[in-house]
Amino acid sequence: MNILLLGSGGREHALAWAIARSPLTGRLFIAPGNPGTAQVGANVALDIADHAAVVAFARENDIGLVVVGPEAPLVAGIVDDLLAAGIRAFGPRKIPAQIEGSKSFTKALCDEFGIPTAAYARFTEEAPALAYVRARGAPIVVKADGLAAGKGVVVAETVSEAEDAVRTVFSGAFGAAGAAVVIEDFLAGEEASFFAVSDGDTAVPLASAQDHKRAYDGDQGPNTGGMGAYSPAPVVTPEIAERVMREIVNPTVAGLKARGTPYCGVLYAGLMIGADGPKLIEYNARFGDPECQVLMPRLRSDLVALMLAAVEGRLSEAAVEWSDDAALTVVIAARGYPGAVEKGSRIRNIEAAEEVEGVTVFHAGTRAVDGRIEAAGGRVLAVTALAPTIAGAQARAYEAVAKIDWPEGFCRSDIGWRAIARVT
Ligand code: AMP
Ligand code: GLY
Repeated sequence: MNILLLGSGGREHALAWAIARSPLTGRLFIAPGNPGTAQVGANVALDIADHAAVVAFARENDIGLVVVGPEAPLVAGIVDDLLAAGIRAFGPRKIPAQIEGSKSFTKALCDEFGIPTAAYARFTEEAPALAYVRARGAPIVVKADGLAAGKGVVVAETVSEAEDAVRTVFSGAFGAAGAAVVIEDFLAGEEASFFAVSDGDTAVPLASAQDHKRAYDGDQGPNTGGMGAYSPAPVVTPEIAERVMREIVNPTVAGLKARGTPYCGVLYAGLMIGADGPKLIEYNARFGDPECQVLMPRLRSDLVALMLAAVEGRLSEAAVEWSDDAALTVVIAARGYPGAVEKGSRIRNIEAAEEVEGVTVFHAGTRAVDGRIEAAGGRVLAVTALAPTIAGAQARAYEAVAKIDWPEGFCRSDIGWRAIARVT
């Protein structure tokens, strides 16, 4: 079967790498892809925001399955448009994709179906939002309601910080995403991510992971899309995983089905694991980036078979097998990230890094120019290693990172520290 994967980041290189390994895969196209995806499939210069162009390409190339990597096309309804054209697609439709597209959609779902999450209120006007913050006190969390590329959240330690955050949301800094604000109680505990896949009726657990959102060592500096990740997350014990499925994922899938808007695709639950168990911080409607770069190398079973079972409503028969090994990925970013970065610096010795045992280098923000690899974005490479322990995977990943010759890049030197501190 021919497959079309949409997206161009490190997540999509990891997905393409896993899709290419499936015996079910015929031709693999990636739109627009990157030099990493070009190693395992054919990149196509399609504008994925142009749904009609994606549908036309899928028809012309006999695509049997479209896999949507990022959230923006899901929230824009690309799956609805593909399904309407009779093309199978892995990912939720527009309405259930609101679990990522709208914080208040998810909060209302939690209320309706008894899913544990932080208490909250939503406001479309500044004055009552400020009054709520003052009455509730700090710490408190202020969020722009819509998709703000991870930048619309302030965990305020003081009331005045929270007031500033409310004013920022209503100042228009987040465009349409800031038309409303969600203010919620601060949750204490350890964060982890949990991934499941649903066919609309049944959900199967995948695996846990933890990422590092801050730019610099010691979890300092600005928030980023993620500077590294590892899987599994030790805080997600088998008991916690079972509770996440029973208390969070299954009620979500059942609730969306009961509303007549079933959820098909990956459910990525951002969790706070506190003294009284797991609570939902947020949902994403897709794999994480860079979490996908640690999930795919651990996945032993066939990703394409799993996605087909989801789109065909056969997940209750699916068997998902994982390596017992841990995976850890180190993101190498361009200097200046998450601020402005320069493009065009040359990257050498990626092949040498991949010679380290258990290592795969996923491309995120690179471009190929006359056979050379250059930086072309903020997060540029994700260097992933597998090993029997997280500490072992960390050692291999950093051994590989050291072989990459790219003076204009930087990475954190402590990815995995929390997990390693926990077990030693
Ligand atoms: P979100 O975009 O909703 O995932 O929030 C971004 C980050 O803010 C999360 O990864 C958490 O670190 C933090 N955060 C969000 N909501 C809460 C909360 N209610 N309590 C504590 N931390 C939170
Ligand atoms: N790494 C965080 C995300 O993909 O949303």
